[in-house]
Amino acid sequence: EGGAAVPGHSGRARHVLLFPLPYQGHINPMLRLAGVLHARGFAVTVFHTHFNAPDAARHPEHRFVAVPDGMSGRPPPVSVDDVVKHIHALNGACEAAFRDRLAAVLAEYSRDAVTCFVADAHLLRMVEVARRLTVPTLVLRTGSAACFAGFLAYPLLCDKGYLPSSQLDMAVSELPPYRVRDLMHIGRDGHELMCELVARAVAAVKLSSGLILNTFDALEAPELAKLRRDLAVPVFDIGPLHKFSPAADGSLLHQDRSCLEWLDTQVPESVLYVSFGSLACMGARELVETAWGIAGSGVPFLWVVRPGLVGGRAPDEAAARLLPEGFEAATRRRGVVVAWAPQEEVLRHRAVGGFWTHNGWNSTTESLGEGVPMLCRPNFGDQMGNARYVEHVWKAGFEVAGGELERATVEAAIRRLMTESDGGEMRARARELKKAAAECTGKASSSEMAIVKMVTHMLSL
Ligand code: UDX
Repeated sequence: EGGAAVPGHSGRARHVLLFPLPYQGHINPMLRLAGVLHARGFAVTVFHTHFNAPDAARHPEHRFVAVPDGMSGRPPPVSVDDVVKHIHALNGACEAAFRDRLAAVLAEYSRDAVTCFVADAHLLRMVEVARRLTVPTLVLRTGSAACFAGFLAYPLLCDKGYLPSSQLDMAVSELPPYRVRDLMHIGRDGHELMCELVARAVAAVKLSSGLILNTFDALEAPELAKLRRDLAVPVFDIGPLHKFSPAADGSLLHQDRSCLEWLDTQVPESVLYVSFGSLACMGARELVETAWGIAGSGVPFLWVVRPGLVGGRAPDEAAARLLPEGFEAATRRRGVVVAWAPQEEVLRHRAVGGFWTHNGWNSTTESLGEGVPMLCRPNFGDQMGNARYVEHVWKAGFEVAGGELERATVEAAIRRLMTESDGGEMRARARELKKAAAECTGKASSSEMAIVKMVTHMLSL
């Protein structure tokens, strides 16, 4: 990294203003982007809501500006519909306060020292505010290029009758290898809500002066080419961002680092890391089946049982209390359960040989970037599409059979990934992708060049 300082106006530093959507999977890539820009000589200001506010003390290099969101007292979203409604509500609740904060920041820095504003694609209202104040805006979309191509095609797919539909296994011939079930959807009742979410993200990108994606050439060259054909704004594929900004820690929960010491005692590539990200939920019965499946597989494991993982239970309920009686005794020397892990370091650890994931885009790219094959159990949103690519395009993992989890299914899937020969082939593919990711992020690589282009573009606006 490093990078030469950007020549600032009259010798002053140039400022970039950022606003992440306040969810873990969106904060992480935005703070990593902040790290990339800071390393290239930009001063960075991060606007944030009170809800899920990042810990400013961990980033003394950036300035943080709180935007009141009027959401205190509202319970955190737990279902997909909740998340979609929450995103919508946040946009409305923050708009006026953001306008004031942005105007204050612009008044403080000389106007032409502010290079641009980068907003999450789900913050359309903030993009509109910045435009009205004549601040050039780029948009960060935290999912895959394929997912955004799906967003662009959404109205057409609805017209053609793919959505809403109960024929989930129908192939979407306009977007191979997606099936209907792999598209962003929340069933018939939530269809209008999802159409609106997608339309607003597309509008944000089209209103902006550029789209930033946390992906890279070796992973999604055809999808990126398609986006470049279909969009009038430039597209910058600067990922995987965690490779450029490994120290950008945006974790909202305390990461239990003791599991790294335990990993040090384990045989290389023997451990299955299990985590379903910050939002995905499972039922209490599924948790029990998962536990016994993990125990029955005989494979060493590190399992993140996050507060709130089990739907309908108090988010602060201790993880251990949700696990079945006898599970700890049955797995004592073979596994560790934590509430939240330092995931990037875990995936980089030589003891980790597989990742059972919900396929959030960050988890997917972090896993591929470290050469770890995946057992896929997508939950909602873009995760189904990501899992589809892992299995059918990158061939670095496979999806655990649909429906409610049963211990025998879990056991067989874990063994397949960790000890059987086709799991070995997936591991080999994941290693190739790790190499490709390294090639895309090294000196004069595609992502490095995309960063240079993005910075040049920002300075030209
Ligand atoms: C959400 C959506 O679910 C996802 O599909 C979308 O692409 C981004 O927003 P989330 O579900 O939290 O994100 O998953 P993911 O994208 O994988 O992000 C989780 C982040 O939390 C990762 O960067 C991961 O490294 C981090 N994490 C996860 C930890 O630091 N510790 C953990 O124990 C688990």
